[in-house]
Amino acid sequence: MSKLQSVRGMHDLLPGEAALHARLERVWARAAEQFGYEEIRLPAVEPAELFRRAVGAATDIVAKEMYEFADRGGQPLALRPEGTAGCARAVIQHGLAPNRQQRLWYRGACFRHERPQQGRLRQFRQFGVETFGMDGPDIDAELLLLGRRAWRALGLAPVLRLNTLGDAGERAAWRAELTDYFGAAAARLDEDDRRRLRDNPLRLLDSRAPAVRELLPDAPRLAARLGAASRAHFDELRRRLDDAGVEYALDPTLVRGLDYYDRTVFEWDGPGAGAQSALAAGGRYNRLVEQLGGRSTPAAGFAVGLERVRLCVERAPAPGADVYLAAPGSAAAEAAALRLAERLRDGRPALRLRMNMDGGSLKAQLRRADKSGARAALILGDAEAAAGAVVVKPLRGGGEQRAVALAAAGEALAALLQAENGESWP
Ligand code: HAM
Repeated sequence: MSKLQSVRGMHDLLPGEAALHARLERVWARAAEQFGYEEIRLPAVEPAELFRRAVGAATDIVAKEMYEFADRGGQPLALRPEGTAGCARAVIQHGLAPNRQQRLWYRGACFRHERPQQGRLRQFRQFGVETFGMDGPDIDAELLLLGRRAWRALGLAPVLRLNTLGDAGERAAWRAELTDYFGAAAARLDEDDRRRLRDNPLRLLDSRAPAVRELLPDAPRLAARLGAASRAHFDELRRRLDDAGVEYALDPTLVRGLDYYDRTVFEWDGPGAGAQSALAAGGRYNRLVEQLGGRSTPAAGFAVGLERVRLCVERAPAPGADVYLAAPGSAAAEAAALRLAERLRDGRPALRLRMNMDGGSLKAQLRRADKSGARAALILGDAEAAAGAVVVKPLRGGGEQRAVALAAAGEALAALLQAENGESWP
């Protein structure tokens, strides 16, 4: 008898992969809970109409990729292609948002009938966060801080691209200008891009066709049409990100493939190629709740593609050490550092502690610490040696550095590395 195989683009997670997957989910859930987000569990099957209304009937996700079927009772259903629509539906259905702010997280399988390749599957898993009832740029900034915390805990540093899509009125005017601009060159566009021109000309901005790319530099920009309120929202978001040291690249061509966005949109890109490089993406969607029959409620969120993140984590070189000990002081301070290193190795045999060699300034030593992949640095210079202390500095998980007594170094390290992502530590 012939052997049955899993459906194309829908993979088994074998033991090693499943363990890594579980770890990713833990890191993201922990980051979300650190910001006070609560878990919500949602069905994988929803009325097909939900995604038509939320994501947009003309989007690729709904028009080309959605798994739609009628169940045995003839009800038109869909396997969810994403999590936001179902989350908004649940918030409305259970009255979770009126007069209340909500911060939610979820995880689960999503389904899109795309052409499978590495990082692009027909069944994949998303981890998502959604917030309801908050309209300001402060919650947009919080979402990006939450993301940064999880990326750091995973030792990844994807590039954050940021844009604003303005509000519906501003976008309508821009859309009309884009239609005129690309319409004048319609003969040069391929069939797919002519369809985009008709259905949603914004999508031309992320077309990869050479004809469109040539036209892009002179295409009308939304920035010139933004009203005062949208501009202030974006400026204030950027100010908050700058203040918190969050790095981002402004990208006026970032438009997203789902119709529900307003104002802020963003994407975190990993080292992969093309569309598969997006590890996570999201933005603000202030009209969605009302479009789904709820009371007008501002909202914003993002979702992470866990398989894509897993590929990055698998590719990232395994760190050579857990802790790097920097000793930028005199010979006496260096001797104290060496004594500390030996004491920590005695007390914690599984700890991988790399000691700085060949001196160097504190800056040079911390650069080596960063390259080692260690999750924390210890700094013991002259001032620390004189005070009988050592500085414990987190390198990946955020958080402040602090000085502790030499005798408390092991405990402080353990607490820091454990708190960082909730995982066990030597
Ligand atoms: P999205 O950009 O369509 O947004 O998907 C989010 C993430 O899911 C992508 O960045 C990617 O990592 C992953 N992903 C998407 N399609 C696939 C696929 N075929 N195979 C593997 N991974 C995939 C949304 O879904 C929005 N709901 C995000 C959001 C939440 N916006 C506001 N809140």
